[in-house]
Amino acid sequence: MIRTLADAGDLRSKRVLLRCDLNVPLNDGVIGDDGRIRASLQTIQYLVEAGARVLIASHLGRPQGAPDSKYSLEPIARRLEELLGQPVLFCSDTVGPVAKAASKLLEDGGVALLENLRFHPEETSEDPAERQELATEIASFVDLTVCDGFGVVHREQASVFELAKTVPSYAGFLIQAELEVLQKLTSNPAEPYTVVLGGSKVSDKLAVIGNLLPVVNSLVIGGGMVFTVLAAQGYAVGKSLLETDQIETVKGFLKQAVELGVDIHLPVDIEIAESFKADAAHQTVSVADMEASELGSDVMGLDIGPESALQFAEVIRNSKTVFWNGPMGVFEFPAFAGGTKVVAQALTEVSGISVVGGGDSAAAVRALGFADSAFGYISTGGGASLEYLEGKELPGLTALGL
Ligand code: 3PG
Repeated sequence: MIRTLADAGDLRSKRVLLRCDLNVPLNDGVIGDDGRIRASLQTIQYLVEAGARVLIASHLGRPQGAPDSKYSLEPIARRLEELLGQPVLFCSDTVGPVAKAASKLLEDGGVALLENLRFHPEETSEDPAERQELATEIASFVDLTVCDGFGVVHREQASVFELAKTVPSYAGFLIQAELEVLQKLTSNPAEPYTVVLGGSKVSDKLAVIGNLLPVVNSLVIGGGMVFTVLAAQGYAVGKSLLETDQIETVKGFLKQAVELGVDIHLPVDIEIAESFKADAAHQTVSVADMEASELGSDVMGLDIGPESALQFAEVIRNSKTVFWNGPMGVFEFPAFAGGTKVVAQALTEVSGISVVGGGDSAAAVRALGFADSAFGYISTGGGASLEYLEGKELPGLTALGL
């Protein structure tokens, strides 16, 4: 059984390391969607009211194990301050003298946000001993840890796994809420059960497909990852996002899908452009004609086409359980948001459970004007939710006793 805050005892004056997933879309210091920050508020407020001294830690993006101002959490501290209505002390390092000083300075109910965990290479190191070093360093200035970063529980990383095994550790309210919803999707989901995949973390997403095939009826694939699938089917995709080293894996799961009777829905048309720009000239072509267009091998697919969007919407609306992770195109550019919008609309019309998962997908539906309440649930986890649905053991949850 997962340990929760109810098991944590009296928290007054306790130094709590609260591991959140505050990995929000950020452009030049401007937060694109603060959903993951808002999703963390319930646990933060609970800890504040309980009189704990709250040191929040998170990753942001994928910096290369060294400080990089583009990935600083400072703008997040300012937004957190507004949402909480109380000062949030920003610490320019995750560990070391600055973090230790913050941990001493904080009063009961005080909140500090530590700098990006991934500025330290040990956080994401493949070597457990290196990760343990960082966990031990954090453990030197906290009494316990609360993990509420559901979006990162699938990562075996120092603050998620080793830290939770080094000091007393508990799940926050967000993790509990996420698990409650995802358990509904894994224990006898109403059929047809459809998973819709898109987005640009291609190898991460392709890796989950093999394990999802035995549990779903249909798989709908669009977004940046689809070009590797189309390439595996022999289509020429020009300069679209492509991971050639994954093509053989994809061929394997396409075969497996046929054997298992799972319907794989792929786009029949693509919105192509000559460059990755909001105002790039664009047109719709059939998947077979991407390189046959006048753009030749320079062609770039930036969205699924309108016919594909209609077909995908039909599959989604006819499903009783739908999980969607990953936009269908570059929704940040209005010219390439069409596919994502149609798919989002279809999810709002599902007469069963519809779950939108992941930072980008949640940001997309909000940016396109959908209310959170239009969907069954908006999960903060993308990769984490998918791996949970695959039935995998997630390190961040195992460390909390699940
Ligand atoms: C996410 O956005 O899915 C989580 O924050 C995890 O980020 P990661 O894929 O960079 O580990």
